[in-house]
This record gives sequence, structure tokens and C-alpha cells, in this order.
Amino acid sequence: MRNFTLYWFVALLLSSQAWATDNWLYRQQQYSLQMTLSHISRDDTPRGFVVAAPSKSDPNYYFHWVRDAALVMNALDRTLPWEKKRQLLYDYVSMTQQNQNTPTLSDLGEPKFNPDGSGYADEWARPQNDGPALRAISLIQFANQLLDRGDEPYVRQNLYSADENAPTAIKKDLEYTVKVWARPDFDLWEEVHGTHFYTRMAQRTALELGAKLADRLGDHDSAVRFRRSANLIHVALERHWSEKEYKILSTIDRSTDKGLSYKHSNLDASTVLGVLHSWLPGQTFGPLDDRILVTTEKMMKVFSQIYSINHQHDGVGIGRYPEDQFFGGNPWFLLTIGFAEYFLKVSTALAQDAKVTVSGTNKPFYVRILGRDILPGKYDRHSQEFLDIRRGLRSEAEAYLRRVQFHAGEGGRMDEQFDRNNGFMKGAFHLTWSYASYLTFHLQYTTSNSF
Ligand code: NOJ
Ligand code: NOJ
Repeated sequence: MRNFTLYWFVALLLSSQAWATDNWLYRQQQYSLQMTLSHISRDDTPRGFVVAAPSKSDPNYYFHWVRDAALVMNALDRTLPWEKKRQLLYDYVSMTQQNQNTPTLSDLGEPKFNPDGSGYADEWARPQNDGPALRAISLIQFANQLLDRGDEPYVRQNLYSADENAPTAIKKDLEYTVKVWARPDFDLWEEVHGTHFYTRMAQRTALELGAKLADRLGDHDSAVRFRRSANLIHVALERHWSEKEYKILSTIDRSTDKGLSYKHSNLDASTVLGVLHSWLPGQTFGPLDDRILVTTEKMMKVFSQIYSINHQHDGVGIGRYPEDQFFGGNPWFLLTIGFAEYFLKVSTALAQDAKVTVSGTNKPFYVRILGRDILPGKYDRHSQEFLDIRRGLRSEAEAYLRRVQFHAGEGGRMDEQFDRNNGFMKGAFHLTWSYASYLTFHLQYTTSNSF
């Protein structure tokens, strides 16, 4: 009898704990959605304009950043049902056409636009060529849905026309990407000049998806050209792997006369973002690629050491890169959430493969997730190792989310960063991208639930 009571007591305790986290996760999704939507088409901005944050000073983020907007719109597209997102996406298409037709200092590589619609014309790190590629990825996803629904005229008029001079948003971004991908530019953090892993991951995918869309619309000549560039980028990406340092180098061929000089490690969380934002099944550098696994493991290690808040509790607050000095160099919400999403993506990919392959290279990653040693080899889906690794990945993701919950505001507010020493929020107030990153995490969380 006593055992029986104890059993129920423990069961109740466990289930109420699970309920508490799940409930927070759900509420955070609702809040993130609401905040994201409130940052689009505001009263003092044009329709389709996405403010990076409502903060107008320290820092001023009241701009439409091409990268942030593309990621935000993609998250909404994946989250909302057709009727709720349709107008938002149409507005985003118009905003894009307007941006593309506005004279700027760096053509389509211009990173951000003022609330009056003009291009930002002060000194800035430009061009940033991940922007047009990310934007193309988001718009192609929209175009394909429109075509599935039979709205080909709208697509041909606004999104894709074989005619180079037509004001069609996707075609312009793809042509621009074909033209510039081999040239150096600034990275997504707007700091270093060279060739970037994150940017090239986006460019390869934009062109691959673009080629499929071009074929779908009968523009086979362009499809061939897009595919050719995508294949070249696929080869060029290999140069980012350093056998000597045993990690993916975020920037290669770095210019010495432009951009920051103190970024020595070349280890950058944007490598993981590259997988989340751009990777397609069948491509190299996916979630289970040994090189991604080992690089991620190195980052978790560094960030858990250098940020003192990471010395307490589990779940590692993740920053951009170890030497970061922006606002003192802190963990970011979107990166900590992004790593959690990545662990779940690994878990889903393992389930699809129906096995775990442990190699000499990826071993440190799995040892850590498992919490015990494991020998290189293949472990099928019935093995204890396979089950434990998948369970470990999920609890790792949940631990990262508990850290996010701990540093976020009462109602779910997320700024850009949280202080590496005292944990309080820092950087841009209510960063839109923080919320968008939560939305895509949540999609992954709710779909990778089953074992
Ligand atoms: C502003 C950029 O947005 C940020 O990423 C960067 O760290 C700082 N400038 C310093 O260059
Ligand atoms: C600074 C970040 O480094 C950059 O990636 C981002 O686009 C801007 N802030 C706006 O959020």
C-alpha cells in the first residue's frame, strides 16, 4: 500500500513537471508569434516592413534587415495556415520588389533599409550577400504554394519571370546570387570580410530550389545556369573544412584590410544556423555530417567554459563566437534556441536513418550526449545506444530551453542577448529574430516528439 502511494506521488510529481515545461513551451510559442506579427507593417513603417526590433536607440534596430526579414517571414510561412499568412506574404513580396528597385550603395547586397523605404546610406558592412539568397529561399517556398493553388499569374508577374528585366523578386535574387557568389563579402554578423560558410550554404540552396522553380515554370535555360552555380558552390564549400584544425572554418580567404581583426578562432555558431536555415536532404553538411557534429561539439565546449553563467545549471547559453565583443560578447537567445533545434534535427535524422553511426570524428559529440563512452560503429534502431542517444538529444534540447526560459522575461520577452556574467537581458529589446527562432524550434519540437 505504501509503495503504491509513493508510486502515485512520484508519478504525479513527474507529470506535473513535464506539464509545467510543456505549458511554458506552448505559451512561449503563442507569445513569440504575437510579438513577431506586431513587428511587421507597423503604423510608422510601410506594409511588409519587418523591424529587426522595436528598439530605436542603443541600439537602433528600427530597420528592415534583409536577412532578418527573410528568416522571420520563413518562420511565419512555416507556422501559419494559409488564410492567416497570405496577406503577410503578399506584403513581403511588395516590400521586396520595392527594396530591389531602390538605389543602394551595394546593389541587392544592401543589408538594411530605413523606415521610409530608402536604403541605409551611412557607413556599414556591405555588401552582405546572404540576404538575397535567404530571401529567395523564403519566396520560393511561397511561390510553390501559390503554384500548387493555381495562382500562376501572380507568380509570373511578381515572383518569377524568365525575362531578366521583369520586376520579379525571386528571379532578381537568383541572378544576383549567380553573379556574386564567388566574390568576397561581409558575413551575417556584419563584421568580417571574406568567404563565409553560412552565406554559401544559403546561396547553394537558393540556386538549387531556384532551378527547380525555373523548371516548373518552363525556364529551362536559367535552371541549367542556376544548377551549374549551385554545383560549384557545393565544391567550394568543401574548403571550409580544416583537417588540421578538425573543424569547419566559418570564414576563409579573409581580407586583412576590411572588417574586424580579433576573430581568431574561426569557430562560429552561424555554422549551425547554416544547417537550420539552408540545408536540404541530399546535400553535404547536413545535421549528421561528421564535420558539423564535431564543430558543434567544439562550440558547446568553448561556450560552456567562457561564459560564467554556464557554470551553473545545465543547458549551455550559446554566443556568436568566442572572441565576440558586441555588447561585451554574450550568449544570444536565437543561438541557444537554434542549438536546441539542431539537437532535435539530429534526432529526427537518426530516426529516418534508423541507426546511429559513430565514427572517430563524431565520437566526442555522441559521448557527451550519451554521458558515457561509446565505440565507433553502427547502432541500429533497436539498440540501447540508439534509444539513449535519441533520448539524450531531446533532454539536451529541453535543457537549452530551460536556460532560455530562465533568462527570458516573465511574459516571455526575449531581447537579443543575455549577459554572460549576470544573466540579465542585453542588446536589442524584443529582437524579432529571437522570436522567429523560437517558432522554428517549436515546429521541430512538436514534430520530433515521437520515438
Ligand atoms: C553592428 C552589427 O550589427 C553587429 O553584428 C556588430 O557586432 C557590430 N556592428 C560591431 O561591428
Ligand atoms: C546584428 C546581427 O549581427 C545581424 O546578424 C542582424 O542582422 C542585425 N543585428 C539585426 O538583427
